[in-house]
Amino acid sequence: MTFSRRRFLQSATALAVLPKAVRASSTDLVARKAIQQIAPNGFPETPVWSYGGGVPGPEIRLAQGARLQRRLVNDLPQPTTIHWHGIRIDNAMDGVPGLTQDAVTPGEDFHYDFVVPDAGTYWYHAHNRSVEQVARGLYGPLIVEEAEPLDVDHDLTLMLDDWRLDPETAHIVDDFDNGHDQSHAGRLGNLVSVNGQFDPAFSVRSRDRLRLRLINASNARIYDLSLDGLVGRIVALDGMPLETPMRVEDSFPLAPAQRADLVVDVQARPDRVAGLVSREREGSFGLVRFTVSGQSARTGQPSIAPLPPNPLPMVTLDSAPIHRMTLQGGAMRWLESAHLGETLLSGRELAQLGRFWALNGYAERPQDPFLDAQRGSVHRIEFVNETAFPHAMHLHGHHFRLILADGRLGPWRDTVLVERGQTRQIALVADNPGDWLLHCHMLGHAASGMMSWFRVT
Ligand code: C2O
Ligand code: CU
Repeated sequence: MTFSRRRFLQSATALAVLPKAVRASSTDLVARKAIQQIAPNGFPETPVWSYGGGVPGPEIRLAQGARLQRRLVNDLPQPTTIHWHGIRIDNAMDGVPGLTQDAVTPGEDFHYDFVVPDAGTYWYHAHNRSVEQVARGLYGPLIVEEAEPLDVDHDLTLMLDDWRLDPETAHIVDDFDNGHDQSHAGRLGNLVSVNGQFDPAFSVRSRDRLRLRLINASNARIYDLSLDGLVGRIVALDGMPLETPMRVEDSFPLAPAQRADLVVDVQARPDRVAGLVSREREGSFGLVRFTVSGQSARTGQPSIAPLPPNPLPMVTLDSAPIHRMTLQGGAMRWLESAHLGETLLSGRELAQLGRFWALNGYAERPQDPFLDAQRGSVHRIEFVNETAFPHAMHLHGHHFRLILADGRLGPWRDTVLVERGQTRQIALVADNPGDWLLHCHMLGHAASGMMSWFRVT
């Protein structure tokens, strides 16, 4: 009997030792099992899947325009890939199994190598069986720095996740394909972590200016966030600077996969606690504490200026065709029928196969693209949400502009929240050649039908 490379790796990893051939270097992201204290102290630790031994994975920081090179080493029991969410990336590096690459099988590796064109807050996450792999912890922050750093006292990345843990063992409940979750709001958890920790605290001074980079890595939870003892503005959404920073008056939504960059001043006085708060129907709870001690020398804070713009294309709507994408299915609006490939199946048959949703009548990624666009052409996509649930629609490889109710162009985004019953239009400049996914980022919805794609040639 001969030892294939894969066999060797598997037996070696059973001893928790990587053989020399795959010894981790600083440019490796080793996807592997780990143990972490996610639940509050006093609870047991949680077995997770990680990049490099911790959740979130290492924060990757690089300069705008720089080249990112990472080798994914798969030391997990499942095939996996990495998607670099929000990066206007070279298609071959987009990390979508079956569309841009083969999934990396256990013991194998894959070299990601691409340039990051835009400054801002992005993230990376597993894109094979995401509904399980992201829920187990396979995600991390990707920060692309502006040429001129902002004048702030702290630049903090805050990555939100929603875990479903067994309250006794603190193990992740492994019902990832739960049909009730998938046909409703998706997999919602019972513990929210920030940077893989429950209720973390940071020390700040009164009057400090902070940049907060919020990233929602949750499978399905939509946060309604507010500030306590902090005042400031949203300066970027999904990585892209707002032309006019937006004052946080009350609360603001952060749907799965979305990011918001805030610049805030600590208003709370010394010995007080400021915080980031999640508002829920049952009341509010703190996600992050800022314990305030002392006072910074800052007086009369300058106003919060816009970030420098990224090199995004011009959007001219004049002759842009409208492509309608209808979102159907889910509990209370069950599918009557939809296609799997060529076959039209009834809603009942689809449910038996774990398919509850459809995009334009397809309950899985169709053979033909939803849109076949010529490179450089402008398109409107109109999302018509006929379901009884909100969905976070994400396009790969591109950012798009929201079209506001009055027809004007809104902010750039890569993920748009489409509320139940709502219709939302976006404008896309299809300028990045390749085959790109378009799906709901409630990962259980994507797994049970809300998956499509478009082509740019
Ligand atoms: Cu962040 Cu296709 O995903
Ligand atoms: Cu959805």
